Amino acid sequence: MAFETILFETEGPLAIITVNRPKALNALSPQVVGELEQAIKDIRDSDDIRAVILTGAGDKAFIAGADIAAMSKMSPLEGRAFSRYGQDVLFSLEKLPQPVIAAVNGFALGGGCEIAMACDFIYAADSAKFGQPEINLGIIPGFGGTQRLSRLVGKGWAKELCLTGAIIGADQAAAIGLVTRVFPAEELMEAAKKTALGMAAKGRVSLRAIKELIDNGYDMSLERAIPMEAENFATCFASPDQAEGMTAFLEKRKPDFKGGLND
Ligand code: CAA
Repeated sequence: MAFETILFETEGPLAIITVNRPKALNALSPQVVGELEQAIKDIRDSDDIRAVILTGAGDKAFIAGADIAAMSKMSPLEGRAFSRYGQDVLFSLEKLPQPVIAAVNGFALGGGCEIAMACDFIYAADSAKFGQPEINLGIIPGFGGTQRLSRLVGKGWAKELCLTGAIIGADQAAAIGLVTRVFPAEELMEAAKKTALGMAAKGRVSLRAIKELIDNGYDMSLERAIPMEAENFATCFASPDQAEGMTAFLEKRKPDFKGGLND
């Protein structure tokens, strides 16, 4: 599929998705969401892509939210369908077996903040700005914001951001745990690539298990979640990555992990 609103590039084991509507601050139109859905499927089915970076074109915005022009004439039924569609695509992003970094290079508002939160973690330029300003449009977050934000930063900050529509800077976002690291804007992509390449070189069975355990276990009781870890720990011993990782340690060399995604 040829993409018109996103760029899909690969650099060795990395896939870089860039939402590419800079004149509309990379707003998420239904077409963008559809193209993201396809790109996510392509990545999921690829045996060569081992880590992913999601970013926005230009230096002003990561993604300034769902496309307000496209939403302005929606009926309640269309609004629900758009919300459910966006939620499903963000679930498919969150459930990718490969690790995904959001490289937030400017405004990450509304759906932009929501898509960043569906990535595994967020790196931000010092110029980045975050918020859930839907309240100012007479609506609420629709791509998971009321749920993922509170899970990431706690109920107090989630309520303050969603109820007031306040926009916060990168340092504040890092202080509340929304962002893991902040970089000078010109260093953001290199830093994201370095971390993504580092993860790409790890064992894929381990990467996938860690993602699934942290995501799935988060909403479970500790008593139910902890045993899942033992099962996944056991599965690692059926992967060639475990033999390679431990042999390499004992032989005092770097491991060369080759395990497939479906091992
Ligand atoms: N949808 C559609 N177009 C958008 C947009 C959006 N979310 N955000 C910005 N744009 C467009 C503007 O309409 C403008 O287009 P024109 O040049 O054709 O007029 C262009 O991008 C540049 O934007 P501004 O002129 O507004 O730039 P600014 O620097 O003055 O302001 C901003 C930047 C503060 C980010 C401002 O654009 C803004 O507030 N954008 C909307 C943010 C927002 O409310 N996001 C939430 C959307 S709802 C949502 O996401 C629901 C959900 O959960 C799924």
